[in-house]
Amino acid sequence: MEKYIINGGKVLSGEVTISGAKNAAVAIIPATILCDEPCRIENIPNISDVTLIAKILQNLGAKVTRVNKSTLDIDPRPINTYSAVDDSVRGMRASYYLLGALIGRFNNAKVALPGGCNFGLRPIDQHLKGFAAMGAQCDLINGAIVDAHSQGRIQGASIYLDTVSVGTTINLMLAAVKAQGMTIIENAAKEPHIVDLANFLNSMGANIRGAGTDVIKIRGVDYLHGITYSIIPDQIEAGTYMAAVAATRGKLLVKNVTPKHLESITAKLKEIGVYVEEFDEAVLIDATDRKLRRCNLKTMPHPGFPTDCQPQFVAMLATCEGTSIVTENVWDNRYQYIRELLLMGAHISVEGRVAIVDGMMPLHGAPVKATDLRAGAALIIAGLVASGVTEISSIHYIERGYEEIIEKLRALGADIRKQYVPGEDASATA
Ligand code: EPU
Repeated sequence: MEKYIINGGKVLSGEVTISGAKNAAVAIIPATILCDEPCRIENIPNISDVTLIAKILQNLGAKVTRVNKSTLDIDPRPINTYSAVDDSVRGMRASYYLLGALIGRFNNAKVALPGGCNFGLRPIDQHLKGFAAMGAQCDLINGAIVDAHSQGRIQGASIYLDTVSVGTTINLMLAAVKAQGMTIIENAAKEPHIVDLANFLNSMGANIRGAGTDVIKIRGVDYLHGITYSIIPDQIEAGTYMAAVAATRGKLLVKNVTPKHLESITAKLKEIGVYVEEFDEAVLIDATDRKLRRCNLKTMPHPGFPTDCQPQFVAMLATCEGTSIVTENVWDNRYQYIRELLLMGAHISVEGRVAIVDGMMPLHGAPVKATDLRAGAALIIAGLVASGVTEISSIHYIERGYEEIIEKLRALGADIRKQYVPGEDASATA
């Protein structure tokens, strides 16, 4: 097993280049299953979730070639099965996109139920409702495998989502791209990676309109041609570095970002007193010698404040003056990391969906455990601020989603390293 060891108390400053978006990559890579020719995908983050989804495609028969650290060539033509049930499929949440992509290509799919970060119930009822409306009936085999089967070609349908769901919106777009006729998704999610996936599919010849609004219309097409496509920058990785630098009262130029995607994050940083300046593809934040103050923060689907930056901001708000009130509106149980922050001296109480964060309590290093990906990022931020040494275990969660996080933080002046701990095994599933 490996751990991160942080000697806290260093002010971070400098420049960071943001990698491609994890949640776009884990949708676009399975989306290549629908393509009738080989594709090249650029700006792919080098993270374990990407390695895993690429391996799953290979196991299905696709030819996947790594051209360089951030570019994959994928030839999906040799795929001749719609069954993805091996253990690797259970290893990540986004493997449920195999359902939409395989239904889109074969009108059938058999996919093991996904794993992923554990923060309460993660139902897929809306995905299954949408597939059924399109003619793919879904049965659960032994509670572990979704068996989606249709009599003939998938049909376009009008589907209203009961809840705004990123995964459902993406999955139904994938199933609809080659369906017979028109699919309309209402109450769709609007995250930047949904627009990115639509741009990717449209560049190949798909007919998707309205991505980025809450009504998406997809007219099915017969053929998708090969393209070279570059994935958007990771808004959550950018938000994580911004929170880390604000927490240490440093200064950071965040490069390779789309400032528009970061608006809810930069608005909060400005509100608490951080200086923010936007450029075409970069954002400067400066918290040097600033007294940062409390705020209220509510997570919402895009364009609201992203739930995937909530833990990092809670860690940062623990360093600000006053009491912040944070409300998690997307997930039922995304505060598991707070007990780890308490071990480091934070004063935070949780009542249902609300976390009350008393700022300016001195944080001290402690052995703590990442309970999921963003939780791990929050513990890193706390460790960067804390006095003494913080040891973070279960770092495989963090490495699911952050490319070269140690290298990037060290370049900003952090004292962080990875340590191998003999005799212990990281067996938990990401
Ligand atoms: N929901 C349902 N039924 C469904 C689907 C979702 O009730 O069929 C509920 C969920 O329980 C949740 C809400 O709808 O309360 C939103 O879930 P959503 O489907 O939007 O989440 P997801 O697609 O499973 C993606 C990201 C998450 C991110 C959420 C919300 C990927 C691979 N994952 O998950 O990212 O938190 O959207 O923005 O894109 C992360 O990167 O750390 C991460 C967890």
